[in-house]
Amino acid sequence: MKIEILSSPEEIGIKLARKLYRRIMLQPKLVVGLATGSTPLPFYSALVSLVSKKPLDLSRITTFNLDEYYPIGRSNCNSYYFFMNKYLFKLLKLNDTQVNLLSGEAKDYHTECKNYEGRIKVVGGIDWQLLGIGVNGHIGFNEPGSEFNSLTRRVRLSGSTIEMNRRFFSNDKIPFYALTMGLKTILSAKDIHLIATGENKSRIVRKLILTKPSKKLPASILKLHHNVTIWLDNASAKLLEVN
Ligand code: PGA
Repeated sequence: MKIEILSSPEEIGIKLARKLYRRIMLQPKLVVGLATGSTPLPFYSALVSLVSKKPLDLSRITTFNLDEYYPIGRSNCNSYYFFMNKYLFKLLKLNDTQVNLLSGEAKDYHTECKNYEGRIKVVGGIDWQLLGIGVNGHIGFNEPGSEFNSLTRRVRLSGSTIEMNRRFFSNDKIPFYALTMGLKTILSAKDIHLIATGENKSRIVRKLILTKPSKKLPASILKLHHNVTIWLDNASAKLLEVN
């Protein structure tokens, strides 16, 4: 794993947005894996601002999101469908046909998950995957204990994830389940970028760097991949020896 430490989430956003911008210029049909949560927001706003200053043809990229609550309606402002449209897809004018999200409205979640794996295969796999990390080490909604060979599936959210994310659901009840790409699905991406920012991520970042791959810390599977960059700000890196 390559580690990049920059001074702020904004600086990470700008540097990573430039990287993705250049990749799309070289490979206009890039398949991009996207994440939600507060972590990717500076990256999304940097990307939107870059594209508005230096127009780029995005009409041939395809995107796949990591996860979605289940069940949840797409019009619910807490759904990841709503989030992605608000912070990225509408601003970049991406078409509905080029973006893929697991549906929290699917009646048959087995079929939904199986089809999602199929859609990723059809386009030749994910070229460039963005990840955040939960304070419990989850990536996507692969909670501690997830199998390394897991594929896209329905999962029960852990107590700590429910506690962390409950704050967004002001009047609504937070769903106890989610649909998520599996760890094997994520590890099949060719180029992976995990962002962890803020002091509340410093403990899990230290643990990730120090521990061997283990189901107890799902993000540790990334140690088995040859092309992973971990992007940290000073706050999340503060417990590392290098600092
Ligand atoms: P956050 O969530 O970006 O809101 O901290 C990250 C995650 O849970 O993967």
